[in-house]
Amino acid sequence: MNIEKAVIPVAGLGTRFLPATLSIPKAMIPVLDQPSLHYCVAEAINSGITKIIFVISENQKDIIENYFSCHDVVVDALRSKGDIESLNKIEEISHIVEMDFVIQETPLGLGHAVLMAKKMVGKNPFAVLLPDDLILGNNPTLKKLCAIHADGNELVLAIKKVAPEAISSLGIIATNDQKGKIRDITGVVEKPSLKKAPSDLAIVGRYILPFQIFQAIENSNEGALGEIQLTDAIGALIPHLGCKGYLFQDKHFDVGIPIGLLKATIHQALKRDDTHDDLVNWLADLSLDKK
Ligand code: G1P
Repeated sequence: MNIEKAVIPVAGLGTRFLPATLSIPKAMIPVLDQPSLHYCVAEAINSGITKIIFVISENQKDIIENYFSCHDVVVDALRSKGDIESLNKIEEISHIVEMDFVIQETPLGLGHAVLMAKKMVGKNPFAVLLPDDLILGNNPTLKKLCAIHADGNELVLAIKKVAPEAISSLGIIATNDQKGKIRDITGVVEKPSLKKAPSDLAIVGRYILPFQIFQAIENSNEGALGEIQLTDAIGALIPHLGCKGYLFQDKHFDVGIPIGLLKATIHQALKRDDTHDDLVNWLADLSLDKK
């Protein structure tokens, strides 16, 4: 069955980006000139998703809805200027996909955020994308997850090898497979200590989940950080449904923290013709200053 719906949780307080997040949702802060949420929506669309459900807080709806709607005045101006590149960027995301919004009144954790979308998701399998995880590559990682799902796997997660110091802030998988891009996942644990971590492979913000996840979240107790964790609900389903991990190779940035956003911005600026040379020269001057 094709994956048609995606849930994108954006309701967090964004405390690591204060004071900017006093008035802008974290996912709307740009990586160079494009909000991280735009990358996430584009990845969903390019993976075949036709409906996106944003889990938001009360004050975010207008900002996000407005961003993804059609901007006739801007479009007309760009068209008459012949600025096709900017036009394509805008048209990539507006009106191509159906969007819905559900409010998460209190941020009680990622599992709780996903649970808010239960009614809108219905009984079909669906995707979850976390905009804090920016994955840049030629082929969307979510599309690969969808293909693994189409091969008969109900639970599919993006995974990545991480450094020891990152383990205690991530979801970590257990697996007996030592090789290959697709690993059989036998268990998951949210934010384990380094000592208790079953591997150095972390879950990274892209999931294909069956509708049974909602019941599993409802049955979950408070987990790591006192929150309702999506990882715990996934762990409860694994003995019944199995689970695959896709070890993606593309560039990944944690844009949920300022340094990650800065790195992603530099990465993008180095890839673009209009910013590459200027940035390289400026960085060279910077390193000369240091000497
Ligand atoms: C969430 C998930 C965690 C995952 C991480 C990165 O954690 O709970 O399993 O490894 O995203 O995608 P958070 O960043 O919300 O603490």
